[in-house]
Amino acid sequence: MSETQTDGVVEAPSTISKSKSSNGVEGVYMPNDAVVENANITAYMRSKGFSTYDELYQWSIKNPEEFWTDHASELEWFQPWEKVLDESKAPFYKWFVGGKTNIIYNAIDRHVKTWRRNKLALIWEGEDGTLRTYSYHLLNREVSKIANVLKSMGVKKGDIVTIYLPRIPELPLCMLACAKIGAMHSVVYGGFSVEALADRIDDSKSRVLITADSGFMRGKFVELKKIADEAIARTPSVQTCIVVRRTGQDINMESGRDLWLHDLLALPIASAHCETEPMDAEDPLFILYTSGTTGRPKGVVHTHGGYMVGTYTTLKHVFDIKEEDRWWCAADPGWITGHSYIVYSPLLTGTTSFIYEGAPNYPYPDRWWSMIAKYGISILYTAPTAIRGLMRFGEAWPSRHDLSTLRLLGSVGEPINPEAWRWYHQVIGHEQCPIMDTWWQTETGHFMITPTPVLPLKPGSATRPFLGIDIDVVHEDGSSCEANEDGLLIIKRPWPGMLRTILNDPDRYVTTYFEKVPGGVYTVGDSARKDEDGYIWIIGRLDDVIKVSGYRLGTAEVESALVSHSAVAEAAAIGLPHELKGNAIHTFVILREGYEGSQQLEDELKAHVGHEMGPIARPERVEFVTSLPKTRSGKIMRRVLKAQALGQDVGDISTLES
Ligand code: WTA
Repeated sequence: MSETQTDGVVEAPSTISKSKSSNGVEGVYMPNDAVVENANITAYMRSKGFSTYDELYQWSIKNPEEFWTDHASELEWFQPWEKVLDESKAPFYKWFVGGKTNIIYNAIDRHVKTWRRNKLALIWEGEDGTLRTYSYHLLNREVSKIANVLKSMGVKKGDIVTIYLPRIPELPLCMLACAKIGAMHSVVYGGFSVEALADRIDDSKSRVLITADSGFMRGKFVELKKIADEAIARTPSVQTCIVVRRTGQDINMESGRDLWLHDLLALPIASAHCETEPMDAEDPLFILYTSGTTGRPKGVVHTHGGYMVGTYTTLKHVFDIKEEDRWWCAADPGWITGHSYIVYSPLLTGTTSFIYEGAPNYPYPDRWWSMIAKYGISILYTAPTAIRGLMRFGEAWPSRHDLSTLRLLGSVGEPINPEAWRWYHQVIGHEQCPIMDTWWQTETGHFMITPTPVLPLKPGSATRPFLGIDIDVVHEDGSSCEANEDGLLIIKRPWPGMLRTILNDPDRYVTTYFEKVPGGVYTVGDSARKDEDGYIWIIGRLDDVIKVSGYRLGTAEVESALVSHSAVAEAAAIGLPHELKGNAIHTFVILREGYEGSQQLEDELKAHVGHEMGPIARPERVEFVTSLPKTRSGKIMRRVLKAQALGQDVGDISTLES
C-alpha cells in the first residue's frame, strides 16, 4: 500500500489529497506495510475476494447484513437468528431477530471451555500500587458468585441494578454478574454526585444499589457511600445497598438496608457456579444515562445481541486485536467507552485488559508510562484531554520508560488537536504507532467513523466510516453538502449496536434522533465536514451538550443544579474553549431578591454544583447578571451568551425577547 517501511508524514498516493487539515497539521500518515500485511482487516478483505479497502467498504455498505452476519457467526448463539435486520417498526430496529445468546456466554463462558481459561482477562493496578489479576477462569468464578448473591436477593431478568463504584475490579465484575442473570445494569460514573445519582436511580427505579465505602483519587478519599446515602434519601426505590470495601474508611451502614459484599460472598448462596441466562438477541443488556439537550439525562438502552456483535467486530478490526496483545483503554468503565471497550469487547475478543484505578499523574507524571512498561501494554486508547494533561509535564517523563511494546494508539471523545496528535505520535508512539481516532457516541454503542490500521491517516480527522456504516454530511433539508462544506452529520442506515430506545420515553427517542432531518435518518447532533477524499472532520456539538475533558455534560443539568441553591433564581450554562479540558463550563446566574453577588457566593455556587453533580461539572466561572437573553417563547439563547463571551458577532437575534 505504501512505499515506505515506517509510518510518518510521506507523500500521499495520488488518490489521497494531502493538504486537507483544517486544523493545521500538514500531510498524510501512511500505514506501515508490515502492519497492513498482518492486519485482521486485511485477512478479512482477502477472504471476501477484495484487493483494496475501498472495494471492501463499498461492498459492506451495499451488503451490511452479510458483513455483520460474518462477524456474528464468529460468536456463539444458543439458537441462531431467523432474520438479521427487522425494519418493520422503524426507527425501532431489531437485529438478529429470533437469535438467543447472552453477551456473557461469549465474553466468559466460551473462553473457559478452551485453553484461554488460564489466560489473563484483567490486570488491575490500584492507585496505591495494589495488583489484582483475573484469569478467565477466576473471572468466571467471581462473576458467578456475585450473580448468585444478586439472585438470592430476588434480582431477576428485566430488573435494573444501579452500580456506583470507583474504578476497581468489582465495577466490571458487578456489571458482568447482572448481564449473566439477565438483569440490566445502570452504571453511574463514580465522579458524579448526589443529584446526578438520585436522578438516575429515580428514572430506573432500581431496588438494588451497589456502591463502595469510598474510592482513592490522588491519594484522597472519594466518599461514595456518603453520597449514595444522600441520594437514597432523595429516592423511594432503593431497598438494598451492597457495599464494596475498598479503602476501609469508617462509614455509616444502615441496618436492614446496607450489606457488605464480602459478607455476602462468604455465604453458602454465593456458589462459584451459575448458569448463564439465555437471552433474546433484542433483550436489553444495560441502561446508560447520557446528557441531552433538555431536562433530565436520557437512559440509553443497549441489547445483548447487536451490541455484542458491534463492539466485538469494531475492536477486532480497528485495534487489530491479536492473541498476544495487552489492551489498555484508559477510560472509566462508568462511561460508554468503558462499557464497550473496557468491559465487553476486550472479553469478547478474548484479550487481556489492563485497568488502572487512579489519576494519571499520581504520585508523579510518569505513572501511566511506567505501567505501560511494567505490564507490556501493546495498545493504548485514551482521550485528547488526557494526552494534553500529560504533555504539559514534558517529554522527560515518558522518555525514561521503555514504551517499545506499544504498537497502536487510540483517541476518543473530542477532535484531537494537532499538538496533542504530534506529541502522542512522536513521544509516546515513537512514530511507529498509527493513531486510531475513533468517533462514536453513547447512542451508537461502538465505533462509527474510524480508521483501521490499513488506512492513511490525516491528523485531526476520524477518517472514514467503519465497514457497514453509511454516513453523510447534509443540509437541514437532507441534501448532501459539497466537499468541505459544514453540515449535519447523519447515519443513513441502522447498525447493530445502535440504541434501541430511551428508557421510559420512546417518543423522545424518535424526536431526538429521527425527526431532525427528513428521510428517517439518524441525526447525530454534531456538525462536521467531509473532504474530497471522503474523510470526515468533526467540528463539534450542535446542541446544548458540553464536552468537558471528553465527558459529556448537559447545560440543563448544570443549570438545574444551580437553581437548586437557595440564592439562585435563574441560570444559564455554556461551554467555552479551555486549553486542557477542551471546553470548560461558564455560568450566568440571576440571584433571588435579597442576595448579592460576591466572590464568596461564586465559590459557594461552584462548590454546590460540584456537590450535586460531581467535580467534573464544577463551573469555571459564575457570572452574576440581571437578565438573560431569551427567545419570545422564553428559551435561553445560549448561542448569544457564547458569542458575547467570545467577543463574536451575536448573529441574528430577531427572535430575542424585547
Ligand atoms: C464527540 C463518547 C471528535 C462527538 C464515545 C460525539 C468526538 C460525542 C470523537 C459523543 C472523536 C466522540 N472526534 N469528536 N473521535 N469521539 N466525539 O456519548 O461530539 O460521551 O457526538 O461518547 O463526543 O460523546 P459520548
